[in-house]
Amino acid sequence: MENSSVPSSQRRFFLTVLLGAIGAALAALGGWPLLRFLAPASKEGAGGKVSLAKDAVPVGGVHFLQFHGQTAVVMQQKAGEFTALSAICTHLGCVVQWKAQKGEFVCPCHGGRFSPSGAVLGGPPPKPLESIPVVLSGDQILIG
Ligand code: FES
Repeated sequence: MENSSVPSSQRRFFLTVLLGAIGAALAALGGWPLLRFLAPASKEGAGGKVSLAKDAVPVGGVHFLQFHGQTAVVMQQKAGEFTALSAICTHLGCVVQWKAQKGEFVCPCHGGRFSPSGAVLGGPPPKPLESIPVVLSGDQILIG
C-alpha cells in the first residue's frame, strides 16, 4: 500500500540520477590526483634560472634553496668554485642534509650518503644526486 503522491517510477528515476551524479563526483575526486600524477610535468618555468648572491654560500659550506619547487643545494668547496645539486634523495625522495663534520650529505630517511659531488657513498640510493648547472654573473650565482 503506497500513500505517496509521487509515482514509484519517477522516484526510481530520481534516485538513479542522484546516485549517478554522486558516483560521477566521487570518480572525479578520485581520478583527479591520478590524472595529475600521470600527466607530464609542466614545462612552464622549467628553463628559468634561480639566482643567489655569492655571499650566501660560505667557502667550504652549503646553502639550501628552492629550485623549481624542489629543494636544491649550492656549495662552494673552494673559493669561487660553486656547484649545485638537487637535494632530493634518489632512493625515495627525502631531502638530504649536509653533515659538515663528515663532509657529506646524509639522507635522514634511510641513511643514504652522498659525496659533495653527489656520488653515492652508501645506503640504498640507486644513483647520484642530480647535478644542476651553475653560471656566475657578477656577484650572483645563476642556477639552472
Ligand atoms: S629516501 Fe634517502 S635513503 Fe631512502
